[in-house]
Amino acid sequence: MSTGSPSTGDHAGAGPSGIPGGEAGAERVAPGPVMALRPTYPPRTARLLLRPLTATDIDDLLEYRSLPEVCRYVPFFPMDRLAIAQKLGESWARTEITGEGQGVILGVEVAETGRLVGDVNLFLHSLEHRSGEVGWVLSPHHSGHGYATEAAHAILHLAFDDLRAHPVIARVDARNLPSVRLAQRLGMRQEALLLENEWFKGGWSDEIDFAVLESEWASQHREPQGAP
Ligand SMILES: CC(C)(COP(=O)(O)OP(=O)(O)OC[C@H]1O[C@@H](n2cnc3c(N)ncnc32)[C@H](O)[C@@H]1OP(=O)(O)O)[C@@H](O)C(=O)NCCC(=O)NCCS
Repeated sequence: MSTGSPSTGDHAGAGPSGIPGGEAGAERVAPGPVMALRPTYPPRTARLLLRPLTATDIDDLLEYRSLPEVCRYVPFFPMDRLAIAQKLGESWARTEITGEGQGVILGVEVAETGRLVGDVNLFLHSLEHRSGEVGWVLSPHHSGHGYATEAAHAILHLAFDDLRAHPVIARVDARNLPSVRLAQRLGMRQEALLLENEWFKGGWSDEIDFAVLESEWASQHREPQGAP
């Protein structure tokens, strides 16, 4: 399942910089651009800002990340203030991806109100395969407005346009129907249904793997020919 908890682990290959194209990385990685994510914050959408989380977000984060219903299908448990503060000081403090095994988690802020309503994440699994993974968490107090879709769409743009990922996946518990619908709304393709592949929170769970390739993303977002 998508974690919502990107690791701060260092890269596991591709030369001392963690970026392909160096001496060690040149032969083993797929041809493609240097992979790094250093966005100019905050990326904006029609209604939202995506921005790094800070200590001033603790109350808003607590409001939804402490809820059992929010944690039902994700591999983290309800968090208290201390757990959130620790994350903010550790893995959630990362604002760039410069190597394999790194990820960023970005707060989803409604531009009109300044309210933090959720978070989205992007993780770089492999430099060799240019593979990424995205995840999303939204406060139930703000669901049903398309905010998670809009934010996830923006982080997919970062994955393809900035990080230059090739496949980007999202892993969803098959029972998590709002998340399944969200992945479908994003134009992600179901690639696999893994039956009872994980012992998850007290029972076997089925996982749906969604994916979108850079070529699919490009064709979905190509400007219409002849547009003024
Ligand atoms: C998964 C999750 C983010 C989905 O939240 P959501 O509110 O359904 O998603 P959105 O904010 O994109 O809103 C979409 C809903 O609003 C509706 N909507 C209203 N206005 C909309 C708009 N402008 N654009 C898109 N959808 C809109 C859609 O029809 C959709 O409802 P539907 O699924 O009943 O058809 C949320 O349930 C969640 O955080 N769950 C807990 C954490 C979790 O499981 N994360 C996923 C891990 S894989």
